[in-house]
Amino acid sequence: MKQLCDEAFFQAFVRMCDDGWQQGWHERNGGNLSYRLRPEEAVRIQPMLDQKGPWTEIGVSVPGLAKEFFLVTGSGKYFRNVILNPEDNTAIIEIDGEGVNYRIRWGLSGGGRPTSELPSHLMNHEVKKEVSNGRHRVIYHAHTTNVIALTFVLPLKDEVFTRELWEMATECPVVFPDGVGVVGWMVPGGRTIAQATSKLMYQYDAVIWAHHGMFASGEDFDGTFGLMHTIEKSAEILMKVLAVRPDKLQTITPDNFRDLAADFNVTLPERFLYDK
Ligand code: 13P
Ligand code: ZN
Repeated sequence: MKQLCDEAFFQAFVRMCDDGWQQGWHERNGGNLSYRLRPEEAVRIQPMLDQKGPWTEIGVSVPGLAKEFFLVTGSGKYFRNVILNPEDNTAIIEIDGEGVNYRIRWGLSGGGRPTSELPSHLMNHEVKKEVSNGRHRVIYHAHTTNVIALTFVLPLKDEVFTRELWEMATECPVVFPDGVGVVGWMVPGGRTIAQATSKLMYQYDAVIWAHHGMFASGEDFDGTFGLMHTIEKSAEILMKVLAVRPDKLQTITPDNFRDLAADFNVTLPERFLYDK
């Protein structure tokens, strides 16, 4: 019989967990990942779903995700172990018809529950499903070292983070033309931070959590990992620049960005191209 681990989406999920671990973004149980299954994938895996756990409150209401299936990492589970034993470290969950409860249908074989950031993941999924007409399927949370470091030294403003990160690599405004959002420090794992993050997901594909990490959303695993990687690399360059010479000798100017936008056919909001 076909196993869940033969599914392409499952293999891509496991690979992404390992990629993130190898980048150094997932100390201990840090970070979490979720994938919204395509209807045909959800149908195909039904015979492999060997559990019907109790319906459990999500803690937030996500009616836009009613009856959807997700592959998620487990709470307290280590990304570095996912590749060794996916069945123990991840789960397939099902959302009920109202979007207020979930139940485990497969995985977490040694016990446990989905990531403590499930409210943020599901609220972000609900927003992104709506604004991308169903195309976005991946939500990724990582403890990206340099982005976290920047939240101690830059004002916690979307405009400042977007502009500074764009300036660090020419490709950045092409990869994230809508910019990045920033949420000030909040208690993780609950409804309040989920609401603040998902509100920003209407505008952005990436949201930074001050002194904690980042959330990224995308259509597939490559795109979502690539977005996280691009932003974190840009943050790494910025940290090096700030350490050596905070008053940059030269940089990419607002007019340079406007020329780039015209040639690469992207729209860069003028609010990020302010005079310094
Ligand atoms: P979980 O182990 O519950 O996924 O939490 C890790 C984390 O990064 C919380 O923000
Ligand atoms: Zn975290």
